[in-house]
Amino acid sequence: MEKMYQGWIGTFDSGVGGLTILHELRKLLPEENFYYYGDSLHSPYGEKTREEIIKLSETITDAMVEKGVKALVIACNTATSSAVTYLRQKYPNLPIIGVEPALKPAAQKGEDKHVLVMATKATLKLEKFQKLLETFKDQTHVDSVVCTGLASAVERGELHSKEVKDLLHGLLDPYAGKVDRVVLGCTHYPLVKDEIKEILGEVEFYDSSYGTAKQLKNRLREEGLLVNEGRTGQIIFDSSKKTEEELALYKRLYQMMD
Ligand code: DGL
Repeated sequence: MEKMYQGWIGTFDSGVGGLTILHELRKLLPEENFYYYGDSLHSPYGEKTREEIIKLSETITDAMVEKGVKALVIACNTATSSAVTYLRQKYPNLPIIGVEPALKPAAQKGEDKHVLVMATKATLKLEKFQKLLETFKDQTHVDSVVCTGLASAVERGELHSKEVKDLLHGLLDPYAGKVDRVVLGCTHYPLVKDEIKEILGEVEFYDSSYGTAKQLKNRLREEGLLVNEGRTGQIIFDSSKKTEEELALYKRLYQMMD
């Protein structure tokens, strides 16, 4: 029986955040077909335990493999930090690309600057990020802020709401005018970049979308898996919520980035 997404690239996140990664993947790999799955029913992942996040990520990955994907992009920092090692062990022949907070480029780029990392509780507390922090903390002044509630607000599609603004003020007011670079360590946050800028002032943003897309392209090339047909690939959006409103929200947010 032909598999539904044979030769496609599977991408998932806890919800709408991974669309910010998908958009960049598509720019760099326009000929590829992408199957995007948002686990909106179980979001936010950032408030869950590592075991819960591994279980949810495994269920999604199993289903993607069943559907025949040729590669997987975990478009979620939280799921990557909890589950990427486990999933790579389970599927050693499947190219799996994860995302992690772009602290390296933010900390390495020149002069001593004040860097602020925004991410979920799960991402910041796990050893993947702690190790990354350890590497750069002597080179640059790095602060991190656990942004509880922010992914959920974005998930509701309320990007410019009073709720988002109030939440961001509560989280970021102590850093207003004091930071130079902001690492958006959760794929939901690029969707509220303007609101973040309003509070922090002129800052440089760092997210993982371009780096992830480049990594995927290199890996597909190495494995001889790149499509090379001069065609425009397709995108299918799917969600664990399965409602029309949810899929319309995915499409709206994705198109908003065009
Ligand atoms: N978008 C996810 C990330 O990149 C997490 C959001 C959530 O807490 O579900 O970390």
